[in-house]
This record gives sequence, structure tokens and C-alpha cells, in this order.
Amino acid sequence: MNILVTGGAGYIGSHTSISLLNAGHSIIIADNLSNSKIETISRIEEITNKSVIFYQIDVTDEDSVERVFNTHQLDGVIHFSGLKAVGESVEKPLEYYHNNIVSTIVLSNMCLKYGVRKLVFSSSATVYGQNVVPFAEYMELLPTTNPYGATKIISERILTDVANANSDLAISLLRYFNPVGAHESCLIGEEPNGVPNNLMPYITKVARGELSVLKVFGNDYDTVDGTGVRDYIHVMDLAEGHLAALEKLDNGVNIYNLGTGKGTSVLEMIKKFEEINRIPVPYEIVDRRVGDIALCYADASKARRELGWETKRTIEEMVRDTWDFAKTL
Ligand code: WQD
Repeated sequence: MNILVTGGAGYIGSHTSISLLNAGHSIIIADNLSNSKIETISRIEEITNKSVIFYQIDVTDEDSVERVFNTHQLDGVIHFSGLKAVGESVEKPLEYYHNNIVSTIVLSNMCLKYGVRKLVFSSSATVYGQNVVPFAEYMELLPTTNPYGATKIISERILTDVANANSDLAISLLRYFNPVGAHESCLIGEEPNGVPNNLMPYITKVARGELSVLKVFGNDYDTVDGTGVRDYIHVMDLAEGHLAALEKLDNGVNIYNLGTGKGTSVLEMIKKFEEINRIPVPYEIVDRRVGDIALCYADASKARRELGWETKRTIEEMVRDTWDFAKTL
């Protein structure tokens, strides 16, 4: 299939592009490079020995997106591009609503106009809010405490309504948990522009000596050791989950959690990183971060049952691959 990958120069998009190319699909990447680097495109080509068509465009710009649909015979779209920092979304809500919602509307319009039947959407476990773990796809989505999470719930709603109004559309909503790790080549990995938001980039900054200490946001949660518990998933497992969702896409709306089904605390992650990479990660306990929840991990059984997909890579591989890539920066 010929697939448009929006945000394909980004962390998850680039790893998914590699899985798509290695599976024999052809891809076109559209990315505005606001949180990614142009070098990633050539690295995808180097890793797969396949060529990639790249457009540096903003997916909220309908004319630019239409030129892509007009030029290429597309069989499907995987929509990654979007702003994704929870804290930043609280400070800049309009930027998040515009970017994340308008891009979804533009792509939906273009798919309908050009008869592109398959669309896979990058959603997030954030939509589950304060539900009881493990989070399952049938659960009611609770209003999240941040605009980023709201943009994901609204986008899911838009795509669901569009699919209900157009029976030949096949849409998959993939809810990610916490992606970490890097491709085994160490040529691509998580490399956020500017100040990172997530735990793992902070751990690698401390391991590289760029930061003296890791701030652990609270140790008074009702968890195994008081620190936040999350479902960390290797980015290559996540990439392969997208391939499975795309290739097994049925008409209508298909919702899947992409997670391991297991929770790991912040302190457990620090200790595993230190043990596997033999490098200290000094930390200090500070106040909780506003908006954080104690526990977040997946009921991963639906994707296993319906897509024949489940995670294969271990926490040890996650911290090893993360560090092997981070050392190259
Ligand atoms: C993980 C744990 C923090 C940094 C977010 C988004 C989610 C998804 C993944 C896009 C928490 C703790 C973190 C630090 C810390 N993104 N932490 N010190 O918040 O679970 O999820 O990113 O889809 O939608 O909400 O990820 O990596 O920020 O935090 O103690 O310097 O690490 O409190 O318990 P989070 P995270």
C-alpha cells in the first residue's frame, strides 16, 4: 500500500515508517519539522535502503495537504503529526486545539474527497483520565485535566462521526501508553527539540551529565513505591502495532490500546536504567507534577486478540536502546 505518514519525521512516526517500508509498503512523509529534524528522513532511507518522498508542510494547511492527495494515489493515512506536551497545552490551549483538531479535519476531508478509505490515528492513553487501571477500550472517556488530552478525545469523536457517516471508511484509533527506546541501528530515537517533557529524555540528560539530578515528581502516590506507575512500550513494538492495525483494518471505527499491560514505577525505571547501562542516575524527590495520575497501564488483550499483535521487547531492551541512541547525540 502507498501510505501518507503525517509527522513521519518525528519519534514514533519515523520508527513506524521503518516498519512500513520493511513490510513492503511505500510511504510519503508530511512533516513541518517543528519537533523533528530533516536528517531523520535520510536515516529512514539508510536503515531501510528504500526511498521516501518528503513534504515539509503543515498538515493544518488544506491547500498543501490537497497537493499531496492530488499528486499521489494514496491507499491510507497514518496521522501522527500534532503537539503533544501536556504541560505546554495548559499554557497554549488555542495552539493545541488549532493544530491537533484542524489537522484531523483537513485529513478527514481529503480522505473523503480522494476516496482514501483507511486512516490510522495516533491517540493517547491520556483519554482515559482517572479511570481504574488497567485501562480498556470499552471504558467511558473521562474529561482530561489538560487541553492536549482533550484534543485527542475530540479528534477521536470527529473520526468516529465521520466513519459513521461514511460506511466505506476504515478508521483505527490507537491509544499509546508511554513510548520509549530507539531503533537498534541507533540512527534514530527520541530527540525532542528544546526542553523535554517525558521521563526518559530527562533520565538520559542526567546520565550524560547535562543535568545533575533527575527530579522525581512525588513519591506519595498509592503505588508500589510511591512514585508514578506507567506502561512503557518500546517504540519498535509501537511501530509494529501500527503496521498490524493498518493491515487488519475493518470498515468502521477500530479502537486499540498499544501497551504492554504491565506497570513500571519511576524508581523501578531509574534502577533498571542504572543496572543495564551501568551508569548512575542521581535523583531527588520533589513535589508532584500538576495533572499527573498515580497509575496508568493498559489492558492490552484486544489488540492481541484482534490484531494478533503484542509487545515483544522488555524493559531491559527499552533502557538499553534508549541509552545506546542517547550516547550518539
Ligand atoms: C512518566 C512518569 C511522571 C519526568 C505523557 C502524556 C501522554 C504520552 C506520554 C503522548 C510520571 C514521572 C516524568 C520527570 C518524573 N504522550 N516523571 N520526572 O505524563 O505518563 O504521559 O507522555 O501521547 O499522553 O501524558 O509521561 O514521561 O511525562 O511521565 O518523575 O522529569 O515519570 O510524574 O509518573 P506521562 P512522562
